Amino acid sequence: MEAVDLIKSRRSVRKFKDEKVSKEVLIKIMEATRFAPSWGNFQVARYTLVNDDNTIKKIAEDGVNDFVYNVGTLKNAKGVAVLSFVKGKSGKLGEEEYATNKESVWEVFDAGIACQTFCLAAHAYGVGTCIMGVIDDKEIAKIVNLDEEETVAAIIVYGYPESEVAPTNRKSVEEITRFV
Ligand SMILES: Cc1cc2nc3c(=O)[nH]c(=O)nc-3n(C[C@H](O)[C@H](O)[C@H](O)COP(=O)(O)O)c2cc1C
Repeated sequence: MEAVDLIKSRRSVRKFKDEKVSKEVLIKIMEATRFAPSWGNFQVARYTLVNDDNTIKKIAEDGVNDFVYNVGTLKNAKGVAVLSFVKGKSGKLGEEEYATNKESVWEVFDAGIACQTFCLAAHAYGVGTCIMGVIDDKEIAKIVNLDEEETVAAIIVYGYPESEVAPTNRKSVEEITRFV
């Protein structure tokens, strides 16, 4: 698919077919995802790919603040990518000082780029995704036994879409763009 079509046709998918995404396809997705840009090319994003149904159930029960919408999506999800980042690196030029007044915010920014790169790569291989921000990051870190040097940024539910998803509204170019 052409890049512009890929960007425009990605949807948040919340209903999935009863079919797991194979490890082979997940590795292809990661092979593209690893090209995401990052602060200083530090590549702080990490992806814990959860395919085990009991762990997904645990994330639904304890990891999404009982937000019914996310609990419902997780009930039929075939996989969950726990997107985390290694703390305390992005935003710095040397070892100690942050280079800008955004300080450590750049690590979340890196995670956001990594997140969209994963979603687009998945879409290219026919795999649907839904980013979830309404999560309990500490609880999810416990569930997947995350390394202490990492923080969970978001989770991305994935699987093969059950059906086509209608596009959501977008603001026009004029509304979001200024030329100076
Ligand atoms: C940072 C972020 C957090 C989100 N959190 C959730 C969430 O917790 N649950 C959910 O169902 N969708 C979540 N979404 C998906 C958005 O609702 C969705 O991207 C938006 O409505 C646009 O629809 P589209 O992705 O189909 O284009 C999140 C998206 C982003 C970027």
